Amino acid sequence: MEICLVPMQPDLISAVISLEQDCGLSSREAASYSNLLQDSNSVLLVALNDSSAIVAVFSGWVVADEFEIDNIAVSPAFRQQGIAAKLLAKAIESAEDKGAIMAILEVRASNQPACALYEKFGFSVVGRRKDYYQNPPEDALIMALEIHRKIPKAAQNPS
Ligand SMILES: CC(C)(COP(=O)(O)OP(=O)(O)OC[C@H]1O[C@@H](n2cnc3c(N)ncnc32)[C@H](O)[C@@H]1OP(=O)(O)O)[C@@H](O)C(=O)NCCC(=O)NCCS
Repeated sequence: MEICLVPMQPDLISAVISLEQDCGLSSREAASYSNLLQDSNSVLLVALNDSSAIVAVFSGWVVADEFEIDNIAVSPAFRQQGIAAKLLAKAIESAEDKGAIMAILEVRASNQPACALYEKFGFSVVGRRKDYYQNPPEDALIMALEIHRKIPKAAQNPS
């Protein structure tokens, strides 16, 4: 199966929101995505399959030298095929081009697949926000990566 990573476009916003919701993530309003799409500091990517359907999404933005990672989600049927790793590698590369030297994110403490993905890229836990999430309530782990360091090759080229 061919997977193609492309910048998000305005006509994809509703499909992006549906995918995020299907993946159990809180999504932003369509208008908020429209604003982000006009901001050159945003990093908004989607993965399309060979039928041009959206199978994964990434959102984040660069503020000064920091890359804030907002969401990454892969449609359940397409997981564990290396798509998130490809998206994250491309997103970090794009953030680095925009001047980021550090990436930071929050993740549910129990979200093992996501934590393992970030650890594979070299992120480490730098803090914890108590009861940060609701429905269900849960702590957030704050994870960070110095992205001027090399991303491990294995993370960029998943088998
Ligand atoms: C987390 C998520 C994005 C991973 O997407 P994916 O495309 O399946 O991930 P990949 O196939 O690229 O896997 C890359 C690495 O992530 C880790 N990983 C992915 N799925 C995993 C799982 N089910 N269990 C443990 N580790 C996992 C592994 O380290 C993996 O590397 P490996 O294949 O060499 O072991 C996906 O599970 C998802 O969409 N979850 C729901 C949304 C979510 O929680 N997003 C994160 C918000 S912070």
